[in-house]
Amino acid sequence: KHIVILISGRGSNMEAIVKACAAEGWPARIAAVISNRPDAAGLQFAAAHGVPTAVVDHKAFPDRESFDAELAKVIDGFAPDLVVLAGFMRILTPGFTRHYEGRMLNIHPSLLPAFPGLHTHERAIEAGCRFAGATVHFVTAELDHGPMVAQAVVPVLDGDDAGALAGRVLKLEHRMYPAAVRWFVSGQIAVEGSRVRQLAGES
Ligand code: GRF
Repeated sequence: KHIVILISGRGSNMEAIVKACAAEGWPARIAAVISNRPDAAGLQFAAAHGVPTAVVDHKAFPDRESFDAELAKVIDGFAPDLVVLAGFMRILTPGFTRHYEGRMLNIHPSLLPAFPGLHTHERAIEAGCRFAGATVHFVTAELDHGPMVAQAVVPVLDGDDAGALAGRVLKLEHRMYPAAVRWFVSGQIAVEGSRVRQLAGES
């Protein structure tokens, strides 16, 4: 299976997936890491690990449609079975999400359906939540919606600020996102309507 990972910045989730793919001998390889920002730090990690990289700079396009069209062209050049959004900070057009329906995953740092969108940690703290977490889900046209593959939980501790909570959640992300991607590439999950079903097999 071929995996293409999209990033916009640090790329620590991408890093966790690249490492797990190699260390755990997945039936898959990372075909490319693509960024919309030429200065994304994660591009260097990918290149240093022999993963092909590409940049599609959104600033070079007049609108979302033309950016998404070029991005899809570059992605499809790597013939991916799965597209993984890992801190990819662009709103995607419905045509783009439809093109990758059932084969594009995202990770969002909240317990969806709570707190879609930005500033999730601030909002969870502000709301007085005692727990926070992260969700891996299939991407649909609606932002941070779509069939959920995995969720994991951390406590919100007294005195947490957004940074402290984000760090605790990020550690969780680095474990759960590789696991969810591995389930996909080894055929252990299936989308049924708005839900994801775990098929028999190792987990
Ligand atoms: C992660 O918290 C992810 O859930 C969110 O953006 C952050 C990306 O971090 N969508 P990184 O680029 O993977 O280090």
